[in-house]
Amino acid sequence: MSNRSQIPREEGIDHTLSLIREGYRYILNRRQIFSCDIFETRLVGKKAICMGGKEAAEIFYDNEKFKRKDAAPNRAVQTLFGKNGVQALDGQAHRQRKEMFMSIMSSNELDRLTGIIRKQWKLAVDKWVQMDKVIFYEEVKEIMCRTACEWISIPVSANKVKGVTKDLGAMFESVAAIGPTHWLGRNARNRIEKWVGKLVEEIRDGKVNVSENSILYKFIRYHDPYGNSLDTDTVAVEVINILRPLVAIAIFINFIALTVYHYPNETKKLERSDEKYSLKFIQEVRRFYPFFPFVAGLVKNDFIWKGYKFEEGTLTLLDLYGTNHDPNIWENPDVFNPDRFTTWDGGLFDFIPQGGGDYFMGHRCAGEWVTIEIMKVSLDYLVNRINYDVPDQDLSFSMVSMPSIPRSKMVIKNISKRE
Ligand code: HEM
Repeated sequence: MSNRSQIPREEGIDHTLSLIREGYRYILNRRQIFSCDIFETRLVGKKAICMGGKEAAEIFYDNEKFKRKDAAPNRAVQTLFGKNGVQALDGQAHRQRKEMFMSIMSSNELDRLTGIIRKQWKLAVDKWVQMDKVIFYEEVKEIMCRTACEWISIPVSANKVKGVTKDLGAMFESVAAIGPTHWLGRNARNRIEKWVGKLVEEIRDGKVNVSENSILYKFIRYHDPYGNSLDTDTVAVEVINILRPLVAIAIFINFIALTVYHYPNETKKLERSDEKYSLKFIQEVRRFYPFFPFVAGLVKNDFIWKGYKFEEGTLTLLDLYGTNHDPNIWENPDVFNPDRFTTWDGGLFDFIPQGGGDYFMGHRCAGEWVTIEIMKVSLDYLVNRINYDVPDQDLSFSMVSMPSIPRSKMVIKNISKRE
């Protein structure tokens, strides 16, 4: 007798259209219909397993069971990730490359970054007080682009900043798009890879000097334990793996501004409260709002989990949004409530807006601490350092577009500094 169970299957030839139509809730909706954390479907013409929840996340981040090479769709590689980046590595090669990223996430580097973002916020506000209105999302992307370039030590001239910001934004704004918008993202990646690659070559040829303590220099001089350095294209891809997501934090900062507007009672608590409440507020923003819907892996070797058979090579999606909204983990998951983080035990697999598991051994986001620090400074600015009005506008956001950004991009007016 076999204890094997059949994975619940969504019948039909292909369900890519349902994924496009239902967006962030596609996997969660089916987990609820099947009353099961796992189901099988067909996406872009292939068999795929979708799963969500704490136990599913735990299994997904088991390096013996899943691999990342060739898991991401080509359209994401061409816009979001780039070729030969850390996201597509496995095993020893992944651990070594990840170490390069984690080595820059020291408390010294985080302090330096916090100093830079504070300065950039101050410079931006000095400019905004003289403007009639500010399109917050666009301005914050520029703050983040300036911050990222300074942190890494990439010189960017005043007349180039807007173009670089636009290109870095296009890489994550175009990932799920089709047609011209997708091509904007591809072209943007080509331009930025070329720009960073040229700089890397000039530094290697001794034509441009950069501090030996800089992040850029560390990436250029990185050697794996066999003494191999990264080729220029790969250095560019990995440098962009810091630049691009730093600019993408503008999306979370936009959601902070939206929350401050929509939940005045929560904001009042922030004005008078301690750092602990700010952190809970930020964590709830990261949990509550849609950002990355899921991550993809391929089954490494056949295995059985809870009686379900996973066959080698099967595309498997782990539901990030749905795990952050899983009613088995979060009470009233669709209510914004920072206090839920008072009792959260810091689990590695239940709260996964930036992936789960271990930073060093697995693919969890290398920039999660950085993201939280930048969100803290930005929240402080919005709540304690400036006054502004939010005129009538469409503040809704899509649960289908990926990434989701408030439709008006959040327009603010009458900005003044607080004494
Ligand atoms: C905007 C906020 C961010 C979000 C929502 C986010 C989300 C994610 C997600 C979902 C993953 C994939 C996890 C997985 O594959 O299991 C990831 C990986 C990664 N993130 Fe982030 N991230 C953010 C910010 C950052 C920042 C600021 C940096 C760098 C400074 C960064 C660097 C990376 C790197 C290098 C990886 C690849 C890790 C690996 O494959 O081992 N991210 N991120």
